[in-house]
Amino acid sequence: MQRSRIIGTGAYAPSRVLTNFDLEKMVNTSDEWIMERTGIKERRVAAEDEATSDLSIKAANNAIEMAGIKPEAIDIIIVGTVTPDMFFPSTASIVQNKIGAKNAVAFDISAACSGFIYALSIADQFIKSGTYKTALVIGAEVLSRMIDWSDRNTCVLFGDGAGAAILQADNGERGILSTHLHTDGSMWDFLYTPGGGSRHPLSHQVIDDKLIYMRMKGNETFKVAVKSLEAVVIEALEYNNLKPSDISWIIPHQANLRIIQSIMKRLELPMEKVVLNIERFGNTSAASVPMALDEAVRDGRVKKNDIIIFEAFGAGLTWASALVRW
Ligand code: ACO
Repeated sequence: MQRSRIIGTGAYAPSRVLTNFDLEKMVNTSDEWIMERTGIKERRVAAEDEATSDLSIKAANNAIEMAGIKPEAIDIIIVGTVTPDMFFPSTASIVQNKIGAKNAVAFDISAACSGFIYALSIADQFIKSGTYKTALVIGAEVLSRMIDWSDRNTCVLFGDGAGAAILQADNGERGILSTHLHTDGSMWDFLYTPGGGSRHPLSHQVIDDKLIYMRMKGNETFKVAVKSLEAVVIEALEYNNLKPSDISWIIPHQANLRIIQSIMKRLELPMEKVVLNIERFGNTSAASVPMALDEAVRDGRVKKNDIIIFEAFGAGLTWASALVRW
């Protein structure tokens, strides 16, 4: 059976570090509160001249180098992002041009923090069906541009970054075993940015009313996240006739350490099986799973034939998982 195997990973985080102590000077918060409630110590913030495609290109080039392929070999590029460079063209088109992947079809998808796994799933379908052989999948965000830096409820949570993976068709047992995607639009207003689109186009009023910034019902989102993520991990395991104890590594979306701890407890798995980078990067939305994956691949934690599960939850509401034999 034809599978998609991840043959290269890459990541990029902007160099500017914003610590909890920096935030203490900006809003009424404390390092203690942020660490205790979220597990975040610092996050990265893009430079003024850095947009989502710039971060994506650096992550993509790292993944291409690890994969040992030429950019011309890429058939499809999918970028998961809710912070594209501009409304159109897609960020993926800009990436395609700048990395020289001239044979690739390229488009973005919008699924917030689940964006990378949604994009991975789409690429996997094209590869499994035999339509394409090589895919570049990216999760990238510059959320710092969508945040109200005077709102302590949101500004302490998010960071900027990009992660990428190269998928290639393979006839062996290794690769993506299954992907599982979910959406519940009835909770769309748990997490959203009201202004700047066709509903409330950009105007002085929209800016004055702060409609261009992200809004979040944190507590409600937290509860749905824990339940949905546990369910989507179990769904992936059952689909593949596996048990939680078969998992070598969980690579979760890094939104809140307490969400990750709750899920591990529900699955009766030790925290040693989680790849964590939330302390250093915060919630980078679509970038968080591929950034953590790249770290675990490069430092040798992830080994051949390991069973790995990716899981993510975000605005939409959307949630998703992918089960991979490395
Ligand atoms: N510093 C100090 N106090 C704060 C801060 C802060 N930065 N932020 C909020 N507080 C206060 C609140 O005002 C509140 O005070 P009050 O009781 O006097 O009203 C108190 O702390 C507790 O607030 P809660 O919202 O109940 O805190 P909670 O423990 O739920 O933590 C958090 C909030 C971290 C946002 C959590 O709810 C969370 O992580 N939610 C899920 C986020 C998520 O998963 N999002 C999905 C992915 S994001 C995406 O898709 C883009």
